[in-house]
Amino acid sequence: MMDLHTPVCELLACEQPIVLAGMGGVARSELVAAVTEAGGFGFLGMVRERPEFITAQIMEVRARTSKPFGVNLVPAATKPALLDAELTACIEAKVHAVTLFWDLNPPIIERLRNAGVLVVCQVGSASEAVAAERAGADILIAQGWQAGGHVRGLTALQVLLADVVARVRLPVLAAGGIVDGAGLAAALALGAQGVVVGTGFLATSESFAHDYHKRRIVEARPDETLHTEIFHINWPANSAVRVLPNSVTRGEHGDPYTPERQIVGADGARNILLFSTDSPLRSMTGNLEAMAIYAGQGAAGIAAIVPAGERLREMAAQARAILDARGSATETVGQEPVEVNSTVCNAKEAGDIYMGFADRDELLNELTILLEAERAGARVGASLVSEAPDAEFKAMANLIQADEIKWARALFEALIELGAEPSKAVGDFYEKAMAVQDVQDRLAFTNRGQGWVVRKLQALLPRVRDDRLHAVLKSMLEAHVTNIASANTALEQRGRTVAVRPTST
Ligand SMILES: Cc1cc2nc3c(=O)[nH]c(=O)nc-3n(C[C@H](O)[C@H](O)[C@H](O)COP(=O)(O)O)c2cc1C
Repeated sequence: MMDLHTPVCELLACEQPIVLAGMGGVARSELVAAVTEAGGFGFLGMVRERPEFITAQIMEVRARTSKPFGVNLVPAATKPALLDAELTACIEAKVHAVTLFWDLNPPIIERLRNAGVLVVCQVGSASEAVAAERAGADILIAQGWQAGGHVRGLTALQVLLADVVARVRLPVLAAGGIVDGAGLAAALALGAQGVVVGTGFLATSESFAHDYHKRRIVEARPDETLHTEIFHINWPANSAVRVLPNSVTRGEHGDPYTPERQIVGADGARNILLFSTDSPLRSMTGNLEAMAIYAGQGAAGIAAIVPAGERLREMAAQARAILDARGSATETVGQEPVEVNSTVCNAKEAGDIYMGFADRDELLNELTILLEAERAGARVGASLVSEAPDAEFKAMANLIQADEIKWARALFEALIELGAEPSKAVGDFYEKAMAVQDVQDRLAFTNRGQGWVVRKLQALLPRVRDDRLHAVLKSMLEAHVTNIASANTALEQRGRTVAVRPTST
């Protein structure tokens, strides 16, 4: 049978690449311990919980299992002082990992990392994924819009996952609508190193969700879940959630944004408000039907409430069977997509080449050539500035030099982002240009060099898949065309004939 163990399992110190989502209220010690003991990795859902409660929950999990687990926090939905105390509680208890969701908060990531805590960021778009990687996250969760609970983005998991995996070097976990081994196998095939499951583990005997909520999940029909912003109290404005329909989503309780607060239930001494983000928990009483019945699109695939370990083992066994049946030729699965019938359709890099995109090696090569050329251009630009015959020439040369420095830096950063060590060399254009003694002849020669850069960029741009890099190179192309034109004007004013007149298209 195929081994599902991926590199992220090493980071999380778990056997199966199956992670329990840190569901607020629902993922408490009993469920976290059950998932973790069964070989997965569990996150306690501790959004807005008091630090003493978090510490107590951590102790309870530790009393049930010796395996590592994590805590989920939501900075955007938590007052700063409470958040600070929550983070202190996690750090002092030396939890293995913390998942952060919603907004990206680099100082929090740094604080956790400095304390030796693994940082997992759940994101809803590729740009958020890149930002989280830059901010120092260790693992990313790509949350597709099929997900239950709060939904960060608007992109289907399959689309988002491929995009995120293509843009970051970090291990990526897939979340949203995954309830069985087919979902796990598909996520692995798309380049994820594992999955995060919320709804699937909510409907288990150990979850702290109220039985009413669990029953609604089991009864859910395909296409029944709703994406809505109606449950808004407690969270930043305009935050969407995925829920099952109820009297609230049907509009039976009036204006959700009225300043009057209505109480629909209680959790001990705490009132539960209508239109709040609270979902029905074991400890709650009142009108459970009118609370947020969170459910991902996978809810329709859940037929029974079972122990969490059973769900996890079944999911793993099913995924192994699917991957085995496909006769996968690869021995390990994870970031490298699982190979099935056609490499062209499945392997990301092969797919890129098939689609006419440059592969990583080619991209590194082209960016390095351009970097060295821009560095040479910057130095030649400096000579044009220092030898300028008049103020007007000097001003134009200054602009050219500043731009060459700017683009050399942008290329340097792009190479770092691609995981390469940027070249420190200066292109041989520098020696050639400096051999031209007359400064105006050297400007004309420089313009030919700039024309060469334009042609190189025109050839490269259609082969660059990454949107951000594409945008950088496109701006670089346009800036070069503008600079060539202003140098041409300067040369013409001085009675020179002009040889290079490229356009940016
Ligand atoms: C009941 C419920 C509560 C949730 N609470 C949180 C939370 O407090 N913090 C968080 O990061 N994500 C939360 N989520 C979202 C999960 O992290 C995850 O993205 C989602 O459950 C994945 O989709 P699925 O439910 O279809 O498996 C919640 C999800 C559900 C279903």
